[in-house]
Amino acid sequence: MTNNNPGAEIAAAEMILASKRLVVFTGAGISTESGIPDFRGPGGIWTKFDPDDFTIQKFLRSEETRRKQWKILLEGGLLSSIKPNRAHLAIAELEEMGRLDCVITQNIDNLHQKAGNSPGRIFELHGNMQWVRCLDCGERYPVEHIREKLKNGVEVPECEICHGILKPDVVFFGETLPPEVLDAATAHSMRCDLFLVVGSSLVVHPAAFMPAYAKEAGARLIIVNIGETPYDSSADILIEGKAGDVMLGIVEKVREKL
Ligand code: APR
Ligand code: ZN
Repeated sequence: MTNNNPGAEIAAAEMILASKRLVVFTGAGISTESGIPDFRGPGGIWTKFDPDDFTIQKFLRSEETRRKQWKILLEGGLLSSIKPNRAHLAIAELEEMGRLDCVITQNIDNLHQKAGNSPGRIFELHGNMQWVRCLDCGERYPVEHIREKLKNGVEVPECEICHGILKPDVVFFGETLPPEVLDAATAHSMRCDLFLVVGSSLVVHPAAFMPAYAKEAGARLIIVNIGETPYDSSADILIEGKAGDVMLGIVEKVREKL
């Protein structure tokens, strides 16, 4: 069912009302309306930079890669005071209504926390940009501290204690995901009865296994995205549209029927 049939949002709202364990799974597409570029959509980060340049191995080996990575993070708005948009706020409202089991996100922008979802119900598979860690002595810095350095022209910030390499607390290509977060997200995906994807191309694993775990467990699958995903054929409801518009529409209908 796609969004050229306006009933799709009503059907999604009815599924949410009937569900006992709703897991919402988000990707970069939910944050583009907050001004953060996504990766594979039109104009996305990987249309400008080569992801192969951003493995953890290259980050450690080459200062040039570190310079580019910090530049992307600065330009991508991930270091600026970005705000949650209507889609994030709609998901926070689902928790307020007691309709949300958890949010599993691939995003590192802290916008689900800012929108009001409880941190204990947010699983950040790829880490979070709020802290930067020294890989040599372990010293941790709040990202605001590093943002100031970058804004003042420092291109590759170093540890102030040991001059070691500083790395944001996010998962780079080639790194393993935080095991306790991956285990929890897997368990919630396997136990849910409704899995709602918002703004992801669903091509990066192991994150993109989550909808498969949910389907295997008998859950129904709703996908809200602009563009195709490999799961479209197994979605119970497929809504092609902007996350902000669609999520607002769905949550309005949930609220009306409560
Ligand atoms: N509303 C709905 N969909 C949107 C919107 C929007 N406003 N803006 C973009 N999209 C869609 C894009 O068309 C794309 O299909 O969201 C999807 C985002 O896909 P990706 O850019 O691949 O982002 P994501 O799925 O989160 O990528 C997963 O890849 O590079 C790694 O670690 C990075 O976490 C990221 C992972
Ligand atoms: Zn150090």
